[in-house]
Amino acid sequence: MFEYNRERIIEKFLKDRQGSIAFFSCIDSTNTYLRTLSVTGEAKVGDVVIADTQTEGRGRLGKSFVSPGGKGIYMSYLFSAENCSFQEISELTAWCAVSVREAILECCQIEVKIKWVNDLVYGRKKLCGILTEMSTMQNNCNPKNVIIGIGVNVNNSSADFPEELSEIVTSIKNITGKEFDRSLICAKIIEKLDKLQRDFSENRTEYLSKYRENCAIIGEKVILERVSQKNGEKYSRTGIVKGISNNFGLVVDFEDTGLETITDGDVSVKGFYGVE
Ligand code: BTN
Repeated sequence: MFEYNRERIIEKFLKDRQGSIAFFSCIDSTNTYLRTLSVTGEAKVGDVVIADTQTEGRGRLGKSFVSPGGKGIYMSYLFSAENCSFQEISELTAWCAVSVREAILECCQIEVKIKWVNDLVYGRKKLCGILTEMSTMQNNCNPKNVIIGIGVNVNNSSADFPEELSEIVTSIKNITGKEFDRSLICAKIIEKLDKLQRDFSENRTEYLSKYRENCAIIGEKVILERVSQKNGEKYSRTGIVKGISNNFGLVVDFEDTGLETITDGDVSVKGFYGVE
């Protein structure tokens, strides 16, 4: 059993970096907590919140993120996107995927891939999810803080996931057969996010080429679900992924309308997460 070793993270990083690192054994959601502190001005850029377990872990599009204690990484980082356009901020999740992928590669020697837009996968199963949320301060003096939330399945066994997720998720332990010290992986993720803070959004070429190289779904068949603006009904379209556009959008060749670049929403990918 590996416990978080606060000293190990702090020893290695706090001396050289500005932000603080707060640990909780149990919290509703590290993103919710850090966003509240950011809104009231009590948190500063580079601050990190880490929890051993979350009771209300959140994912994109209103989904929940299962966060069992002693197993995964649940952390949030306060990022400044000052001087960035909203278009650039909308790409931040993709840039983060590149950073977290590298942290996992360097700590655990496993090559995970990126499932557009915010998941890291191994094979066709999810290993990590990333949720970025804007937070506006009450006094509006820094309207462009972003909370970056990261959840990684580290030491989970298959039995630690609800049955309905067994075909969808995996963990670093499932992949490598080994348990890892979560504090070391957290420390590496923080190091990569500090670098991202320095790089964003100037260093586009580096992040875009790494995103493209490691995109898991090029050539795959995808299903895009949308709600019709005419009658409010759900409809779906299928197509083949052709690539990643310069603004990290998904270029899809749709069966009905041909090439289109998707920049928001969710796509289901055949063969991933149990989709047939
Ligand atoms: C997703 O899979 O759509 C994103 C999942 C993000 C989960 C992390 S865990 C830490 C942080 N706190 C949350 O409530 N969510 C993020």
